[in-house]
Amino acid sequence: MLEVRDPELKDFIDSWHKPVDDEMAALRRSDESDGVPLILTETESVLRLLLDMKKPLRILELGTAHGYSALLFAKCCPDAVVTTIDRNPGMTDYARANFEKYREGTRIDFRIGEASDVLDELSREISSSSGDRRFDFVFIDAEKSHYREFLDKCETMCTDDAFVVCDNILLKGWLIECEGKEARRHRTNIKYMRQFLEYISGREDLDVTILSGGDGLAVIRFRK
Ligand SMILES: C[S@@+](CC[C@H](N)C(=O)[O-])C[C@H]1O[C@@H](n2cnc3c(N)ncnc32)[C@H](O)[C@@H]1O
Repeated sequence: MLEVRDPELKDFIDSWHKPVDDEMAALRRSDESDGVPLILTETESVLRLLLDMKKPLRILELGTAHGYSALLFAKCCPDAVVTTIDRNPGMTDYARANFEKYREGTRIDFRIGEASDVLDELSREISSSSGDRRFDFVFIDAEKSHYREFLDKCETMCTDDAFVVCDNILLKGWLIECEGKEARRHRTNIKYMRQFLEYISGREDLDVTILSGGDGLAVIRFRK
């Protein structure tokens, strides 16, 4: 497998990581020791920088797990409402408990279900709402073979100047070098992720930045 980052370089960069606060540091430690999926520290740094510049008010996340990134959004953007979606009952109880424990239960709108279905539900709510409830920041971190569908559905619910950040776009380097047993196991994700990158980079109305930090990020801005 091709390492997206030299492990020593990754450790060096990680050693400079500053958690948002002690609570986030504790949550990262417990997620990492329990093998719960969560954003890598480099991904967190990029998200924090973008959030600080953009100051979004309505954030949408696909893929909650135990709620680390949703809590990060809530803590970094005290004026924002965060909507986050997950379908896995093994994750959702923990996430809900974490949102309560870290006192963000009321600002995080936690939707349980298939992302695609919940996006349809949100779209209906937004179009029938009297105020502007569109999202100005979206983080896609769910089923890797569905990014195009997710982006297309999110786009209809975004403001003209929204940011969409997609995680894991390099799939541990398999997108570049897809030899070996593990890569073969993920060949469907690899195929769809390649198609997704071709799709976003081929669209004239999107500004797309591909970053190699973490497991690879695509930062998309609409040029409407
Ligand atoms: C990488 S984890 C998310 C980590 C989280 N963003 C964090 O950093 O704390 C991906 C999550 O997406 C959820 N997921 C994957 N595909 C999904 C789908 N189609 N609909 C809803 N949730 C999905 C999984 O259950 C899993 O909890």
